[in-house]
Amino acid sequence: MFQFHLDHTDTSSSARCGRWETPHGVVETPAFMPVGTRGSVKGVWPHQLAETGAQMILANTYHLTLRPGEKVVQELGGLHEFMGWNGPILTDSGGFQVFSLGALRQLDDDRVVFKSHIDGSILDLTPARAMQIQEDLGADCIMCLDECPPHDAPVSKLEEAVARTTRWAQICRETHKRADQALFGIVQGGIHPQLRERSAEGLLKLDFPGYAVGGLSVGESPEEMYRTLDFTTPMLPKEKPRYLMGVGRPIDIIEGVLRGIDLFDCVMPTRNARNATAFTSHGTVKMRNLKYQTDREPLDSECDCSTCQQFSRGFLRHLFTVGEMLGPMLLSVHNLRFYQRVVTELRSAIKSNSAQEFRREHLARMR
Ligand code: GUN
Ligand code: ZN
Repeated sequence: MFQFHLDHTDTSSSARCGRWETPHGVVETPAFMPVGTRGSVKGVWPHQLAETGAQMILANTYHLTLRPGEKVVQELGGLHEFMGWNGPILTDSGGFQVFSLGALRQLDDDRVVFKSHIDGSILDLTPARAMQIQEDLGADCIMCLDECPPHDAPVSKLEEAVARTTRWAQICRETHKRADQALFGIVQGGIHPQLRERSAEGLLKLDFPGYAVGGLSVGESPEEMYRTLDFTTPMLPKEKPRYLMGVGRPIDIIEGVLRGIDLFDCVMPTRNARNATAFTSHGTVKMRNLKYQTDREPLDSECDCSTCQQFSRGFLRHLFTVGEMLGPMLLSVHNLRFYQRVVTELRSAIKSNSAQEFRREHLARMR
């Protein structure tokens, strides 16, 4: 279980393509995981998700433990059956959501205590509890409980977060029991090489089946993120999957792949779709724009998604103008397909040693 086969490494960069075996199917890497925070990729049926080329999706421990509760999901057959997605699923551990949703009450050596953003109830998250919740939810790949400090936190806070994340990873490793789940460690350390090194070193001793790079896309510049990846990915074992959490724009995914990342997730394609922003072969466009009012053309003439096969820009604009729910639904399918085409094309580019060239072409098209 969880064998990771590296098929090829690009000769022009650190990009690699491979196949990752999970209990719910093989994931071809580099891969992009759409986000189904609360057990639903918003507005998209599971079969449509599969049609966009999505292989694996992400769900959140934080949201699902609050509602409906992991025991309810377990009783309903586990996350796959619950949400009607029979492919691979990854759950994030909840720590990041606690910090980013600002519900944090108390953080110490053992735990993070937070107030539910829904009903104000107090929740107590420990590494062991994060493992228990994620075992009950039943995803294929689960994450250690970590601490992701804000980008502008002082170095002393970043150091503390690395120490805490390492300690918690050890407890997660010892507590986690399900052999049909891959538990990933998360490297923290902000944009500092020494801290990333310390974090990676501590986690590598625990010999996880895969590693995530966390603590990025939290307000640092794109250049800072790329530089951090330049020195962080080489610290991680070549023969194991590497996951860049919560990233990002199409260009960020391309830059991540060039630096040796295999897995990505981001809310951007679906969130942007809901506010009428479309990813196209020539950059992002706002679908509410009056210039589309009588436009008969498909959203993106180079796109093969079901939305572009069937509907005009004029119709899409109309849906957003009057607030019809089909607007966000159709645009989500399109944006998700756009992201899947990026990673699919990256996989072929890697096989022909032209990942750098793909990046150049992408940037030229977007200008
Ligand atoms: N999602 C995006 N960044 C992070 C991170 O640093 N940690 C976790 N657990 N999830 C994330
Ligand atoms: Zn399309």
